[in-house]
Amino acid sequence: MKVAVLGAAGGIGQALGLLLKTQLPNGTELSLYDIAPVTPGVAADLSHIPTAVKVTGFAGEDPAPALIDADIVLISAGVARKPGMERSDLFNINAGIVKNLVSVCADICPKALIGIITNPVNTTVAIAAEVLKQKGVYDPARLFGITTLDIIRSNTFVAEVNGVRPEDLNIPVIGGHSGITILPLLSQSGFEFTEDEAASMTKRIQNAGTEVVEAKAGGGSATLSMGQAAAQFGLSLVRALNGEQDIIECTYVEGSGDKARFFAQPVLLGKNGVEKILSYGDLSDFEEATLNAAISTLKTDISIGEDFIN
Ligand code: 2OP
Repeated sequence: MKVAVLGAAGGIGQALGLLLKTQLPNGTELSLYDIAPVTPGVAADLSHIPTAVKVTGFAGEDPAPALIDADIVLISAGVARKPGMERSDLFNINAGIVKNLVSVCADICPKALIGIITNPVNTTVAIAAEVLKQKGVYDPARLFGITTLDIIRSNTFVAEVNGVRPEDLNIPVIGGHSGITILPLLSQSGFEFTEDEAASMTKRIQNAGTEVVEAKAGGGSATLSMGQAAAQFGLSLVRALNGEQDIIECTYVEGSGDKARFFAQPVLLGKNGVEKILSYGDLSDFEEATLNAAISTLKTDISIGEDFIN
């Protein structure tokens, strides 16, 4: 099994690399790529941690050497938000980065499962899909937008107000990964929320990325919690590829399209990626209304990505 991280020298990439080095199963290969010249050094640094995960590092313009025989590719490359920016403000730079990297994935490891972290995820996943389609290798079951950070934030914040352990919660978050498109299903959290409480907790979760951007005051966006979220998701992909059953994650995938072409929802993972898209169950009236209000934003985000490639 080989896992590649593209963007491995960045804040998310380094946290993700560390978590994968310490948590991937014995014998897994961890391949790190970044345009930054420091990347072989990041690999050397990680390689001194005593686990049976072999780390290699590649820098420069060409990600291809890092992608040979990759089973899973996690893409965090790109620029991060500064205060006052929305995720969509990153489009101009990050769209081209994702396009180029996914195009090389299509050539070198067309069967790999690809997880996109690079923002704006609502749009970059659509870009990736269109690139893969143009290359004739698109399989919707193998492309994921990583929205796990919204789930772990929901678990943390809801646990905090209820005085329970966040590790014991698993709150589904559906929709997308930006502002009003992030919809935590608090009605399925196991706790009672009045409509006002649900509205304010939903807003907190939707704005959590911005909370970090503002707290870092120009130093970027979430890297450590995003590294943790991406590692959780990546390790779930590894388990599913290794034949483990009942691996379920909320993730942004191309499904039935009844809400939008790409939609984050609970997914059963298997040896071929998406095994089955699961129902997200019943919504409260508040959630139904919040979702309906977000769909046009999500659809616009998706079509910006489609138009960029086509
Ligand atoms: C966040 O939600 C960086 O999009 C990421 O914080």
